[in-house]
Amino acid sequence: MNEVQPPQSALAPLDEEFAAAVIEGLSHAQKSLPCRYFYDARGSELFEEITDLDEYYPTRTELAILREHAGELARRVAPGGVLVEFGSGSSRKTEILLDAMPDLAAYVAIDVSESALEGARERLAACYPNLRVITRVGDFRMPLDLPTELADAPRLGFFPGSTIGNLVREEAVGLMRDMASTLGAQARLVIGVDLRKDVARLLAAYDDAKGVTAAFNLNLLTRINRELGADFDLSGFAHEAHFDPDESRIEMRLVSLWPQQVRILGRSFRFAPQERIHTENSHKYTVEDFLALARRAGWSPVALWRDPAHLFSVHELIAS
Ligand code: AVJ
Repeated sequence: MNEVQPPQSALAPLDEEFAAAVIEGLSHAQKSLPCRYFYDARGSELFEEITDLDEYYPTRTELAILREHAGELARRVAPGGVLVEFGSGSSRKTEILLDAMPDLAAYVAIDVSESALEGARERLAACYPNLRVITRVGDFRMPLDLPTELADAPRLGFFPGSTIGNLVREEAVGLMRDMASTLGAQARLVIGVDLRKDVARLLAAYDDAKGVTAAFNLNLLTRINRELGADFDLSGFAHEAHFDPDESRIEMRLVSLWPQQVRILGRSFRFAPQERIHTENSHKYTVEDFLALARRAGWSPVALWRDPAHLFSVHELIAS
């Protein structure tokens, strides 16, 4: 067996977690790579571009739903409440809630990226000088341990973007259970969930005419080349979006166009022609299907908002 070797020109220390995840994912008969690694600097930029595409309806549809109903939501959140966002990212959607809830005691942003949190903190400090912003680097499972004066404040969780759709159903239940225990009894959760719809529309959203989604998918290989010193030939793989009706999800894949071999950290991986690397699941729910999962995770429905064409849904839930 080969030892794992460092990349040829190691400018930055090797991200061991990334390396292990890539090697593990490519070692199975059905090759896969975890979608959380899409978001390096270039990947985050490409994702922002995706959100502006004509074909990619989720972002603009969710923003419109939130704008229309933020006032109604705000009336149910008592003054002095704490808004807790899971995976705050660019915080564009957060501002809609912050504008509607001027009496919040604090906004808590939880994210794995310290730099994203610092960026958000700076921007929010400029736009909302009176808002108390608390950042927490970490995952969604960690206990909140808020300052004592906030311990009894009503809590509102926020998980927009249909990020929940990246998880398989059992994982989605687990994550929503974690959110319930993090937020505590009587907390509310506002969660964005993409809806099942006509397949052509779904496929277009994940395989756009300009090829931005293809570039986003292929950038994962560029990242592996750069950070792990691999030698993926980018011209040897093609982007593919596939809809699986039984799982009700879009699957993104990278298809090997010919037989090839790739070296990563001293190991060799063979690809047969047409062999696929599965890179992302994006589940599309019906309202009933999603609420069944939410109930299993300890949440009951309070409100459901959709756009007129029922492309996207935003659910308000309460911990039961
Ligand atoms: C950010 C996970 C919601 O699944 O639609 C966009 C990511 N992938 N185009 C999604 C994504 C391809 C996006 N989420």
